[in-house]
Amino acid sequence: MKLRIPEYVENLVPYKSGNKLEGGITREQFKAMTNLASNENPFGVPEKAKEAMRKAIDESHIYPDPSGSELVSALSLHYKINKNRIITGSGSDSLIQMIFNAFCTKGEEILTADVTFIGTYVNANKLGRKLRLIKTKDYGFDLKSILENINDNTRIIYLANPNNPSGTMFSGDEFKSFMEKVPDDVLVILDEAYWLYASHHKDYPNGLDYEYDNLIVLRTFSKCYGLAGARIGFAFAHREVINILYRVKLPFEPNIIALHGAIAALDDSEYVKKTVETNKKCLALQESKFDDLGINYVKGFGNFTMILFDDETEAIKFTKYMLENNVVVRHLPMFGLPNAVRINTGTLEQTANALDLIENFK
Ligand SMILES: Cc1ncc(COP(=O)(O)O)c(C=O)c1O
Repeated sequence: MKLRIPEYVENLVPYKSGNKLEGGITREQFKAMTNLASNENPFGVPEKAKEAMRKAIDESHIYPDPSGSELVSALSLHYKINKNRIITGSGSDSLIQMIFNAFCTKGEEILTADVTFIGTYVNANKLGRKLRLIKTKDYGFDLKSILENINDNTRIIYLANPNNPSGTMFSGDEFKSFMEKVPDDVLVILDEAYWLYASHHKDYPNGLDYEYDNLIVLRTFSKCYGLAGARIGFAFAHREVINILYRVKLPFEPNIIALHGAIAALDDSEYVKKTVETNKKCLALQESKFDDLGINYVKGFGNFTMILFDDETEAIKFTKYMLENNVVVRHLPMFGLPNAVRINTGTLEQTANALDLIENFK
């Protein structure tokens, strides 16, 4: 092939999801397993969202409204935020891409942690943006060190609270003191993909309570709202930040089926309650079992726990053992953590079954 490819694209590798397994396992076989590798919702698509999405199929011959106005209105009512401060996209992943495109150019820096949501690295690399990765402290964001590393070339800082894959959380006090020191011309992304799982913790900062002109808060329908496959998320920010993002947004994302599903899911408080309550119980079950078995782990504030083994060999052996028993967990070498494995919560039954297996792991 004679086509010329930018160097930063040539160096990329396609994204490999936790739902894609080695060894010729088909998607059908995969679906029959218990997937505790992708932090998805174990309760399936919420019934109300299913019904709304079925109806939306009948509208699929027309383009969606480019501003997703019905969903924006529903979000505005739900979160009591002005509509002009909200934008929707095909998942947080797509919103991150929009932000990197709009607020940073090649050669300018995005600061984040060396262990955080992989979508951040993927989006920066594919756009040829310069990433500077700050070492995590106890697997969480080291906000002090991030502040110390800001320079004239820094345009964006990405934080996830709780973080993925470590599950760590920083407090409201830490966040406020951080924001007060970040220069006004640096945009801070606060990714709250797991906020509903964490919001009962007294120190957890709800991003919507902070009105900084240089802050953008990301939320997704992929986790507590059970719509990971529909690809839909949203962001809150100052109206001028939102206006800029509309300049780079693909006009017709999110798609019309996802938009209708999200409006219905937003209202399904029973489903969200069941999800959050089950997660709380499952995290407690995980922690108590790991404590009993003397397994080293990082306390998780999302819907997963990160287990730490002595070395990579042990982590690989564990991941294989779980897979042989039809449970998929996520080994984490791609985050520079070859001795770590992430396991998300499932239903109570799935979680108990996984923990029984872990008890018998030798
Ligand atoms: C911190 C964080 N942000 C965003 C996402 C992905 O969100 P979405 O499915 O909306 O792209 C994930 C998914 O695992 C995540 O862990």
